[in-house]
Order: sequence, then C-alpha cells, then structure tokens
Amino acid sequence: MHILITGGAGFIGSHMADYHIARGDTVHVVDNLSTGCRSNIAHLLNSPNFHFSKADLLVWDKLQSAIEAADRIYHLAAVVGVKLVLQDPVRVMSTNMAGTERLIRAVHKGGGNPQVVVASSSEVYGFNEAEAFDENCDLVLRSGGRLRWSYAVTKLADEYLAFAYARKYDLNIAIARLFNTVGPRQSGVYGMVVPTFVHQAVRHQPITVYGDGQQTRSFSDVRDTVTALDLLASCPAASGEVVNIGNEQEITIEALARLIKERAASRSELHFISYHEAYGEEFDDVSHRRPILDKLRALTGYRAQWVLRDTIDEMIALEIQIIESAS
Ligand SMILES: NC(=O)c1ccc[n+]([C@@H]2O[C@H](COP(=O)([O-])OP(=O)(O)OC[C@H]3O[C@@H](n4cnc5c(N)ncnc54)[C@H](O)[C@@H]3O)[C@@H](O)[C@H]2O)c1
Repeated sequence: MHILITGGAGFIGSHMADYHIARGDTVHVVDNLSTGCRSNIAHLLNSPNFHFSKADLLVWDKLQSAIEAADRIYHLAAVVGVKLVLQDPVRVMSTNMAGTERLIRAVHKGGGNPQVVVASSSEVYGFNEAEAFDENCDLVLRSGGRLRWSYAVTKLADEYLAFAYARKYDLNIAIARLFNTVGPRQSGVYGMVVPTFVHQAVRHQPITVYGDGQQTRSFSDVRDTVTALDLLASCPAASGEVVNIGNEQEITIEALARLIKERAASRSELHFISYHEAYGEEFDDVSHRRPILDKLRALTGYRAQWVLRDTIDEMIALEIQIIESAS
C-alpha cells in the first residue's frame, strides 16, 4: 500500500511513518518542518520505501499528484499546541482550515477513492463539563473571542469539511478525534505537559503545575494512537464518521507530576502557578478530557497495549540520553 502522511515529520506523523514502513508499505511524507523536524524521520530517509517532501501544504505544487498516487492518506499537518495557538492564531486558522480544504478538494478532484483519515481533536468538546466524552456529546464553545479556542474552531471546521465531502461525493474519509497523545519525540516547547514535566524532572528543576493540578487528562501512547488510526482507516464503516481515539485511564495533573518525579527519581519540587501567569488572559482550562471509546472498539476491535508508566519510563530514559550526549 502507498501512504501519504501530511505532517509526517511531526510527533504522531513520524510514528505513523515508522508503523507503515515496518509493515512493508511505501510512505510519502510532506511537512514544512515548522514544528516537526528532520531528526524525527532521519532513520527513514535512506529507505527506498520512504520519500520526504519539505513543503507547505497550503501551496505545495505536488499535492495533486501525491494524492492521486496514494491508497491511504493521513492528514495530520496542523498548527498544534496551546503556546503556538496563543502566539499565532492567524497561522492556526489558515493552516488548519485552508490546508484541510485544499487536501480534501484534491482528493475529490483526483477521482480515485483513497482511504483518508483527518485528525481532529478532543478540543472540539470545548467547555462541556462532562466527566467523559462520547462522539454524541455537545460541543460547547464559549463566545467572547478568546483566542485559545481558535484551534478547536479550526478542528471543528475540518470535521465539517470532511463530512461535507464524504457525504456529497461519497468519499472514504474518517475523522479521528484525538485525545492527548504522548510518547517519544513529543516536544514540550509548545505547551505539552508530559514532555515538559519529564524535561524538568530529569534536570531536578521545579515541575510547573498549572492551576491547582486537580484537572484530569487521559494519555494515549503514540504507538497505540497509530494503531487506532490504522484500524480506523481500514474500516469501511468508519467512512463519514467521527470517532474518538485516546485512552480511558484518567490521571490528575498533580498525580502525573508526582508519578514523573518518582519514576525519574527526581529531587524536583512541584511548583503551582496560575493559568493566567502561565498563558495570560486569553486562556481557559477544562476540568476533564476522558474519551469513551465504545465506538472505536465497536468499529475496529481496538485495544490499548501501553500503560502510562511505561511510556513515561521510556521518555525519561530518552531525556537522560540527551543530557548525557550533550555533556
Ligand atoms: N498530540 C496530541 O495530543 C494531539 C491531540 C489532538 C489532536 N492532534 C492532532 O494530531 C495531528 C498531529 O499532531 P502532533 O501532535 O503530531 O503535532 P506536530 O506539531 O508534531 O505535527 C504537526 C506537523 O504538521 C507540520 N505542519 C504544520 N503546518 C504545515 C503546513 N502548512 N504544511 C506542511 N506541514 C505542516 C508540522 O511541521 C508538524 O510536523 C494534528 O492535526 C493535531 O491537531 C494531536
């Protein structure tokens, strides 16, 4: 099978590439390396089954031919991460919506019917205060123009672009509502919590917990996420559907900080700071983000293989290697 991955030099995309190369597929990655990096795919660059195009999805002149060559497309390219969203909301809006529209339009124009998975986000559940989310939960976005929600708005627009094309033209497009995903290669630079805590813990620096730390999240190992994305793409009944992907185990952010401190045998102290101190006035946080995965299981039989502690241990070991190789 020939696979096209937009955003394939990023965190999830590079693991997606690894997964398909290991299965003997051919993989074409397009990425502008804005948040992704060459080192994420360096080990693949010499493979005859792997091809990399450094290009911006918004203007890439090879997009149409790349799409027409693909049996399957994972659309992962996006501007991601709370810090980036607050810093550059204009880029978020253009990349995440115009990029998706350009891609799906090209799929339609191509006339074939590749399997397409579009990455959406649990952020679309917005301010809904439910303790866990299935795909029928209301999507609650606040008025008032807080830029923090611009990412969620773009992901919701992507979902409706996919619904519109899938239904009007009978295209084979599934929408993955991804919840927090963690693992090797994830950068903490743009506000991701687990790599940030790991970075701080192994250096015995204060671990910065935002708010009171009682907000909960659930974390899916990236290898589980990649398996789920493959299962979704392979499932004809998922076409035109939106499906949660994540992990149902929940943890408070304070407990996460303590777990990482313990696993890293760290002398770090927990340092609680307010959201406003961390992100400024544009930020709102949500209390819970736990997926209900009944739909994913019913469609694909998916089962998670990883537990959070093992993912954290691996991330700590990799961070220690980085420190040792720099000294
Ligand atoms: N990681 C998570 O927890 C999570 C949760 C929900 C949804 N998602 C979604 O999953 C997808 C992948 O996220 P990720 O965590 O791997 O983030 P990432 O930032 O590592 O990956 C995004 C990739 O897209 C590339 N990109 C950005 N703009 C581009 C453009 N105009 N043209 C070409 N490439 C471009 C970046 O360079 C990067 O490599 C995104 O669509 C994101 O919204 C991720």
